[in-house]
Amino acid sequence: MAKSSRSKALAQFWTPPAVAEFMLEIVQFDPLWKVIDPACGEGVFLQKAAERGAGALAGVDIDPNALERAKQALHPYGERVRLYCQDGLQPIDDPNPFWRGEYDLVIGNPPFAATGYRIHDPRILQRFELSSEPIDEPTDEPDEQGQLFEYREPRRRRKSAVAIEILYLERFSQLCRHGGRICIILPDGVLANRNTRYVRQWILQHHHVYAVISLPRNTFKGVETSAKTSILVLQKGRFYEKRGAHMMILEQVNPDAPFDRESNPELVSAASALRKWLQFAPC
Ligand SMILES: C[S@@+](CC[C@H](N)C(=O)[O-])C[C@H]1O[C@@H](n2cnc3c(N)ncnc32)[C@H](O)[C@@H]1O
Repeated sequence: MAKSSRSKALAQFWTPPAVAEFMLEIVQFDPLWKVIDPACGEGVFLQKAAERGAGALAGVDIDPNALERAKQALHPYGERVRLYCQDGLQPIDDPNPFWRGEYDLVIGNPPFAATGYRIHDPRILQRFELSSEPIDEPTDEPDEQGQLFEYREPRRRRKSAVAIEILYLERFSQLCRHGGRICIILPDGVLANRNTRYVRQWILQHHHVYAVISLPRNTFKGVETSAKTSILVLQKGRFYEKRGAHMMILEQVNPDAPFDRESNPELVSAASALRKWLQFAPC
């Protein structure tokens, strides 16, 4: 496959460093955390976390060329970094349980199905709850035998193919410890389309949603996508009965410039506002 079509097939578009910094800022990054990007590409999130002193960083990508570039960039951080060339939807292939285990922060920009990237392999699909969809609502209505108040699990319909970003969202959650943070860039369809309602229900069932931040179309400038995307900030687990999520629309991101007040004023002031507003459950 030619380089550009391979890159398109793998949905490779790199997150601008300023956006990676913004995301680390709003999750209130702590260098003591163990961090993973399960579709790390050239490793921009890992580099920014390493610059902030992270002690344990892991990255996964299926493309050896992108991973080689990540390896070079992260070389100065030595043993603190582990990189895996494998399918990010599969368990981490490491003999050490520390790296196979759960993470405090799962961050990144997974591949999107805009390029038709869907997963059909039943061996992969069976590892994900989101490869099936409830076909009726949970109920405590009397069932046919007339038993009152019996909770019945909704029946589910298995899908024969699922958009990769949906499985990746669940993969982020699988890798995250209870109480850990998830910060993920997703195409807006996941957050708005009718046929992804079951995904949003699943998010709310298993996580607390702190913020949804809409990114402008030019965020991934210079690459073959103008996908409309948003950043989702989650904590794994349910901590508050009632607490709304912050919604924010960013209009000006300068993808080629650093994360500073002069070149990316909107990004920097949004980050400082979100740092004040987002009060994560202490765990
Ligand atoms: C949108 S790019 C993002 C890369 C990086 N996280 C960033 O933000 O710059 C998605 C990455 O996922 C990788 N990828 C695609 N399918 C994958 C899979 N099944 N397993 C692991 N990585 C995959 C691609 O090679 C690409 O590097």
